Amino acid sequence: MTRTPIMAGNWKMNIDHIEATGLVEKIHYTLVDKDWDPKKSECVLCVPFTDIRTVRTLIDGDRIPFGLGAQNVSEHDNGAFTGEISVTMLSKLGVQYVVVGHSERRQFFGETDELVNAKTAKVLGAGMIPIVCVGEGLDIRKAGDQVSYTLAQVQGALAGLTSEQVAGLVIAYEPVWAIGTGEVATPADAQEVCGAIRREVASLYDEATAESVRIQYGGSVKSGNVVQIMDQPDVDGCLVGGASLQPEEFAAIVRFYQ
Ligand code: G3P
Repeated sequence: MTRTPIMAGNWKMNIDHIEATGLVEKIHYTLVDKDWDPKKSECVLCVPFTDIRTVRTLIDGDRIPFGLGAQNVSEHDNGAFTGEISVTMLSKLGVQYVVVGHSERRQFFGETDELVNAKTAKVLGAGMIPIVCVGEGLDIRKAGDQVSYTLAQVQGALAGLTSEQVAGLVIAYEPVWAIGTGEVATPADAQEVCGAIRREVASLYDEATAESVRIQYGGSVKSGNVVQIMDQPDVDGCLVGGASLQPEEFAAIVRFYQ
């Protein structure tokens, strides 16, 4: 089974809708210059809610073949949830991917495995693809418990999902200690946990599901380390924060293959 690499930029709370146009165009021009083939690596932009319409308009049609993602969503369908955004609102705007359970949401907004599971199910139910984030903090890594901790998050996030649903989603392994710190996990560190995630999916579901699910690494990915990371057999892509705001750097990450 060949899994198409998926390189996603997570803009976080950066780039307003006016700045978004310039950034998307610059990433695209740079990729065209680098002779990028979207069949060899998918490029997805996970943008703030307020940028979705603008980016959708830019990438409609064939000129800019990027995927569009949001960074969060409500677990509720609709109703009195001031400030929240529903899956229907996102899918009607043409959003295809939704980041769920990012460590910043877990850390600053108290998102639990149960909530991540509810959001993942909602996103799938609305026909979109969740990018489910998991990963350990520094204390857990120092204790050597990164695999068991991350697999518990995976089990929590996938609870109750069918093999068809899991086969189509994306799991992003982002060790918290490597996010925005310049401290990148070694390729071997990334492979250790991404490989364990795939084996866990095989044991929870079956080999075919495990072979199909795409697993990303995230945490200080740059053009200088992407090739070694993508060389790992169980890493199918990257979730990129800081470097996704720099068009040349992000384009080089998307066009990682030789
Ligand atoms: O979701 C992407 C992420 O948290 C990694 O951020 O800045 O370390 O690439 P960064």
